[in-house]
Parts: sequence; structure tokens; C-alpha cells
Amino acid sequence: MRIEKFNSYKEMSEFVGDLFASQLLLKPDSVLGLATGSTPIGAYEHLVKLYNEGKVDFSKCTTFNLDEYYPIKQDNPQSYYYFMNEHLFSKVNVNKANLHIPNGSAPDAEAECKAYDELIDKMGGIDLQLLGIGENGHIGFNEPASSLDPGTHLTGLTESTIAANARFFDSADDVPRHALTMGVGSILKAKRIVIAINGEKKLDAFNKLIEGKVDTMSPATVLNLHSNVIVAFSN
Ligand code: F6R
Repeated sequence: MRIEKFNSYKEMSEFVGDLFASQLLLKPDSVLGLATGSTPIGAYEHLVKLYNEGKVDFSKCTTFNLDEYYPIKQDNPQSYYYFMNEHLFSKVNVNKANLHIPNGSAPDAEAECKAYDELIDKMGGIDLQLLGIGENGHIGFNEPASSLDPGTHLTGLTESTIAANARFFDSADDVPRHALTMGVGSILKAKRIVIAINGEKKLDAFNKLIEGKVDTMSPATVLNLHSNVIVAFSN
């Protein structure tokens, strides 16, 4: 695990954005694993800037997002589908046919999850996976629990995650109670992982992660089982 500390959110975001840009330079048809939430916004802004300067080309890449609320419609401004369009996809030259986000309105969640994992495998696996982290150590919507699911699955949100995500909705009552999320096994299959961590509120989760022990009650710690992880931290 390589730990990179930055003095500002901006510096961290540029570092993370540059990792994705260099991944695409080295392998234009990369499979990218993407995340939502407030943390990656700066990295996406940096990537859009690099794209506008002609320094990065998204036309051949494939993307898989970590998660999506369930149930939710794609046109709901709080959906992760909407988020990705707003912050990245509508601003760069991605091929829309190559973009994948778990379908929050799939009638059969289980079938949707199974097909999602199969498609990632079929595409050759994720080359570079971006993660954020919850204050409780969650990655994707893999919440602290006595055991963690390996594959993409339907899951319930914990009260603390509902409270943390309420800032994006009119009220906590409007936060969907379920989500489709890649499992820790799907995440660990990525060839390279970067986890972006910003702010004092995440310090506890960050410290647990870098301690080196694996504890399902702080799900990000499973990253200690992976041999190619970069932890990008700014406070
Ligand atoms: C979102 C995701 C979540 C977030 C986490 C942190 O796709 O996977 O695990 O990364 O909830 O969110 P922020 O960055 O808003 O603090």
C-alpha cells in the first residue's frame, strides 16, 4: 500500500485525476472503475480540464461505476447515473455505449448484479479502480458487518450512511434505503486501486485502513489484501 499525503483537496484531486489520465495514455482502451460522492468531484474536474487541453482521450475506454441507489430512476438528480453525467460523462468524449452503472430501476436486482459482475469479467477486469471511503470505513455501499459480500449485490444502507448522504437530498427520509454495489471481491479484482480520502471526518477510517489489519467492521481495510493500492489523503 502506497500512501500519498497532500496539503489540499486540490492537490489530491490533481494527483488522482493524473493517475487516470496516465492510465488512459498508456492503455487507451482501459477499463476504469469509477466512484461518486463529493470526494471524486475534484479529480473529475481535473480530468475535464485535461480533456479540454487535449491531453486525455476517453473515446476507447470502458467504465464501471461502483454503485447506485435502489430503487432510483436515472433521471433523478440524486441518482449516481445523473451525477456521472453531470461531473464527467457529458463533458468528455466517452462512448456512451461503454459506460456502465448498476441499473437502479432494474426489476430484478439479483439478475442485474450477476450480469454486472459477468460484464466486468468479460471486459477483462478493471484496470484502475477509484474509491472513496465512508466515515464508517465503507467502500461502495459495503457497510461494516460481520461478513462482507464478494460480488455485486443489493444491500441496505446503514443509518450513519443515510445521515451522511442526506445532505444531497431534501431530507433524510428521501434517501433510498437500498443500493446496488460492487462487492469487496469485485473491487479487489481490479488490477490497481486508488482510494481518495479527504477531511478530518475520514481520519478514523484512514487510520484504520493504514494500520494494516483486515476488519470487516471497517470494510476499506480489505484493501490490505491487494498488492497495488494507492491511498491518497488530504485533510
Ligand atoms: C460512492 C461510494 C461511496 C462514497 C463514500 C464517501 O460511489 O462508493 O462509498 O465513496 O460514501 O462519500 P463522500 O466522498 O461524499 O464523502
